[in-house]
Parts: sequence; C-alpha cells; structure tokens
Amino acid sequence: MISKIQYIICFILTSSFGFSQDYEAKVDSLMNLMTLQEKIGQTVMYGGSWDQTGPIVGTNNGKLIREGNMGAMLNAFTVKGTSDLQKIAIEETRLGIPLLFGYDVIHGHRTIFPINLGMSASWDLKMIEESSRIAAEEASAEGLHWTFAPMVDISREPRWGRISEGAGEDVFLGSEIAKAYVKGFQGDDLSQPNTILACAKHYVAYGAPQAGRDYHTVNMGEGELRNVYLPPFKATVDAGVETFMSAFNELNGIPTSGNKFTLRDILRDEWDFNGFVVSDYTSINEMIPHGFAKDSIDAAKIGMNAGVDMDMMGHVYRLHLKNLVDEGKVSEDYINDACRRILMAKFKLGLFEDPYRYIDEERENTTKYKPEFLTKAREIAAASSVLLQNKNQTLPLSIETKKIAFIGPLVKDEYDILGNWAAKGDRKGKAVSVFEGVSEYLNPSQILYSKGCEILKDDDSGFDEAISISKQADEIVLVMGEGHHMSGEAASRTNLKIPGIQPELIKKIREANPNKKITLVLMNGRPLNLSDEVNQVDAILEVWFPGTMGGAATADLLFGKVNPSGKLTVTFPRNVGQVPIYYNMKNTGRPIPETNPNEDYKSNYIDSPNTPLFVFGHGLSYSNFEYSDLILSSHDLTFSNSIKASVVVTNKGEFDGHEVVQLYIHDKVGSVTRPVKELKGFQKIFLKKGENKTVTFTITAEDLKFYNSKMIYGVEPGYFEIAIKPSSEFKFKQTFKLVND
Ligand code: NOJ
Repeated sequence: MISKIQYIICFILTSSFGFSQDYEAKVDSLMNLMTLQEKIGQTVMYGGSWDQTGPIVGTNNGKLIREGNMGAMLNAFTVKGTSDLQKIAIEETRLGIPLLFGYDVIHGHRTIFPINLGMSASWDLKMIEESSRIAAEEASAEGLHWTFAPMVDISREPRWGRISEGAGEDVFLGSEIAKAYVKGFQGDDLSQPNTILACAKHYVAYGAPQAGRDYHTVNMGEGELRNVYLPPFKATVDAGVETFMSAFNELNGIPTSGNKFTLRDILRDEWDFNGFVVSDYTSINEMIPHGFAKDSIDAAKIGMNAGVDMDMMGHVYRLHLKNLVDEGKVSEDYINDACRRILMAKFKLGLFEDPYRYIDEERENTTKYKPEFLTKAREIAAASSVLLQNKNQTLPLSIETKKIAFIGPLVKDEYDILGNWAAKGDRKGKAVSVFEGVSEYLNPSQILYSKGCEILKDDDSGFDEAISISKQADEIVLVMGEGHHMSGEAASRTNLKIPGIQPELIKKIREANPNKKITLVLMNGRPLNLSDEVNQVDAILEVWFPGTMGGAATADLLFGKVNPSGKLTVTFPRNVGQVPIYYNMKNTGRPIPETNPNEDYKSNYIDSPNTPLFVFGHGLSYSNFEYSDLILSSHDLTFSNSIKASVVVTNKGEFDGHEVVQLYIHDKVGSVTRPVKELKGFQKIFLKKGENKTVTFTITAEDLKFYNSKMIYGVEPGYFEIAIKPSSEFKFKQTFKLVND
C-alpha cells in the first residue's frame, strides 16, 4: 500500500522536472520532506550475511531498514536477497527511499580475472576496462549497485598482503589503470542497469604501512603524498568516480577516516569531488584505539566533520549524529551535504524511478559465466602472466614431449587459483586448474602428477613420490606458490620466500634431475624472494592468482599458443632486507659509482647488491624484441611546444608477440630531489615475427610537473634524461633541455 508521503514522492519524481536529469532539484525536494534522523539514516551502512568481509558486527537489518535507519548495505546480493530487502525499504518505510547494495567486486564477480596486481602486469588498459565491465555486468545482474573498487593504493611494500589488490608501485601506470577500472564499472551511463558505482579506495596512503604490517602507521611528507600516493585517486575523480572510501591507517598522526586535510581540503576543495565518501569497515570507530577519538560519540563527530559521508558497519553515525547536531558539535549542513550526495548517487542509478531495476531473475540466470566472459578471462589471465626467466629456451614446451611431470600443491588446485577477494567466483568444479589446462594439450599418457607437499605444512612424506615421478619424466613443471589467504587483507608476511617446504622440494627435484629442464609456475599475491629458485630452475612463469580460467591460460602460455607479454609492475627483491625497493627511488648523495662498485662509504649493503632480482617493467617473451637508438625531434622543449621521442622496435624472434614499450624520464636537478627515473608513457604493441614498428611518444612540459617543497605543482627548466626501453633496467644516454619560450 502506498502511503500519502510516498505519493508525494512519486509526484516529485514525475512532476515537470521529474523526467529531466535535474537530479539536484529532485534531491532537494525529497530532502525537504526528510527528518534529520532520516537524513542520518542515509549515511548508515550495514552488512548482509552473503559474505563476511570484516569483524562480525551484530545488526537487525530488517528493523533498521523499517525505521529508516539504513541507507545502504554491503554483502547482500542475489536477486532474491536484494529484492526482499529493497521491498522493506520501499514499502515499509515512511519515505520509501531505495537502499544501495555494495560489495567487493574486486577482480570479477562470478567470472574471476587475475588478481589486480596480476592484471596490472598486462599493461593493457583496454583489457582491464573490459574486466571491470564484465564484473559490473555480472554483479549488477545479482542486484548490486556499487563495488568497493578499484583499490588504487600505490605500494612499494611486498610484505603487505594488500599489494595484491592494486596496480603495483608506479604512479603513472597506477593512475592510468585506476581510470580504466572506473570506466569499466561505471560505463557511460549510470542509469543503465548493467553499470555500478565505482569506489576509489583506500584514501589515502594505506599502501605504505610501517614494516608492511596491515593497518599500520604511515608517516609521509606531503611531497611524497602528493607526488606518489594521491595521483591515482585524482585520476579516478577525473574519470568520474562516484564514491571514495576512507582508509584504516593514520597519516602523520591523523587517522584517514578523520582527516579533514585529505578529505575536505584536498578531495572536496582542491579536486571538487562531488560523489560521497564511505568509511572503511568500522574505520570511524577505530579512531578510538588509534588514540584519536575519546569514544564512539567523539569518533562520529570527527568522522562527519572530516568529511566521511557514510559509516560502514560502525553504528556510530546512526547512534550519535542527531545528538551531536543538537549539541552544535556537528553542523547540520554536513549531514545535509552527506545525505544529498548519497541520494544523488541513487538518483543517478535510476533507483528512484525503479528501485527494482537491478532485480531481474532472467538476467541473473543468464548473465554469469557467459562463454564470452570466460574467453575474455582466459585471454586476460594469459596477458597478465610474466615470464621471469627462460634459460635455454625451456619454454614453450612441446606437445611432442613424451612425458612431463607436473608437481606441486597447486597443480590440481581449483581453490587458491582465484586468489583473495574473489567475490562470488565458484571454485571447485568451475575454476580451471593447471592440470585441466594442460590436459587440453597432452594425452593422459604424457602427464605424470604428484602433489609433493602442501603449501604450508611441514609434512614431507610426499617428497619420495614426487622425486620418483620427476625422474620418470622428460621435463618437469612445478606449480607452487602461496595460498590465496596469504595475501589480501590482514595477510602481511615478514618472509617473502615461497612458503612451507616447497623450496626444499624444488632443491630435491633439481638434485635428482641435474640435467633436466625444470619450469616453475608460480601463483602468489606479492613479489617473492626467488633468489634460490632462479638458480635451481630454468624457467619461471609468474601467473599470480590467475582466476577462473587460470589453468587454461597457463597451459596456453606453457605450450606457446600464447606468447607471454606481461611485465612486472612491482620490483622483486633479492631478499626481504632490501624492502622497500622500487625503481623510481632517489639517488642519495653517495650512490654506488659505476666505475668502482666496491668503493667504501657508499650507499650500499655489505651483504647484498642494491639491485633487485627482477626490476619493474621486466618480462620476457618467446620472441626477442630489439630496440633501435632513441631519436628525439628536438633537444629543446619549451613550455608551449612539444618534442617527439621515438624508437624502432623489431621482433627478431620466431614468434609473433606483444611488447610493452616504456618511456622513462629523469629530471636531473630540481628544487627538490627527483627520482632516478620515472615512467612517463607506455605503448603495448603487437609485432609479427620479423616485423618492426616505430613507436613515438610526445613529451610536453606538463609531463614533467611535480610538487615542489611549497606544494606548488609545476615544472622547472633544466636538463632531463630520456629513454625508451623494454624495462626500467638501463642507463640513460640522451638528454633534452626544458627552456623558457
Ligand atoms: C575492509 C576492506 O579494507 C575494504 O577494502 C573492503 O571494501 C571493506 N572491508 C568491505 O568489505
């Protein structure tokens, strides 16, 4: 039964401006009818029971919705689930304002793509956008309006488990990838029921926790914040992202969920962000243990005053904001503003016109795992894998090989292969294991298998069988790595080795087969220390956690149907003591001299080289790409003109393939010191064997800007080194000069 007030709302929505895009007028009219507590209700989010993504917080959802005390839900989806809850909001509340349903759709919803760190290694923005488009199709078909993605935290910290959820260590690449995800999730028109709101998280600097421990303290100068950690967030604002999530960490003593400087001064005032900010899961309450809020009343006050519009799971806005307004401790304008932003998102999604528009059983049944989604997942998984090492052209394998031994705890795995944050991706029976993948290429008689050991347990009783199987084979493929729960939230490690007794098994297999070709296929969610393994095996293929079609894609690479083209977006250290280690570091006043690397009193270690094991941008191919010398159109750049830098890249190998061509620049002298090199552009090109292409980048003064010590964003005249290379490992040879016009 429709109430009188709901009738008025219908009138508002269908009145003269009702069919126009004038959402602001509609929101204002609606807000005129709302009580303060109802407005606060819009700022409250609680969780359903379809998934558990944080500590258990008790709620009586039905009651809270009926009372108008809830504006959004997380972890509630499926057509049946969301329609039951939406019905309560529409039919049993005074105003019938629809709920917003959000969920962590991070690298796929049902069809799972590689973990995000893996996808970033594809350097393929189109593919990344396609992955989030498919994720949005599947998620929206199950009643979801909103994803808590993309995570755009830059991270140079492999101990931190959440490095797996981002795009790696680089600010330029990270910003491009951030935009691609937003475009894919939100599409061109949010009122279409197959688009969902994106959420840039975790604002901000969450990727730089002390000692790599999740949720830990971040101390960072404003220059580093602005030059490295903020730009991907700004990029999402430029791409039209509708929501932001404040983070768990403190930043220079102020928790980011109570940080007025980052939330109001930068996000709202400098960037003019018009969407709404949701807290992370109870992150407003966590300002109490941080030692920043006295109690939950204080936490609610700080959160709202700082600019967090919605409280995820915390119960503090619902319980305390009204009193805080009555007492004059929180301005009602802030509540109005937060409510307005949240209602605006609901209008944009078309939920006021039809609150059930995402609820369509037919669509739910026919959308998940569409064959074209699975094909795309296979393609993306292959493009995301990185061939780290390939001695003696061990890969690709030949299907003519008589017997290949597949050994390791992840050969037949259909569980870990999806990685962490795998939303509602089905594992057993749906995910394609490496064993299934290689079975598409080989006859059963060619395949030998032994699990050998578990990922983490110390039990070596399977070693004998694994060694005996390895001896019977002509070639050996080890499929090993981390469990999916070893990266992601609250999964920091102090040790970056392949876990458990897997490294021992690798050694034993090598000892038993000194002359046989051994390939190591790795699944993991972070850079690992592979210093021993590079000497024990011939080839290393990093497939990350490759998702639903991961085993099939891995087989495509192993047998050369697809030529590897992924390149690392994070540095792989030699040992954990080098961390943090990243390509765009500073030089120091005592860099190691090229001519005399052992000179004393230099910035080095006495027990390890400074260099990493695998550099940012590294990734091999079955082909061999040669780069000509760089040609610059001019050695003088002015503030108003541009110069062109180009190289000719030639595929000298026997395979067609993709190559990621990378542009690096070094600002030699600045009013603040500048990184030794910075990625400023990239192009992923396809070259048939024997083919060549000229790859050209245009450089303008805009590309050379940075924040100086006064936090002014600008560019300083002077000399810049430049190179176009296959990875970040090179020495600059060419220079140009930026001069005044
Ligand atoms: C906590 C995580 O930090 C965040 O990334 C996630 O979106 C929320 N939980 C909701 O599950």
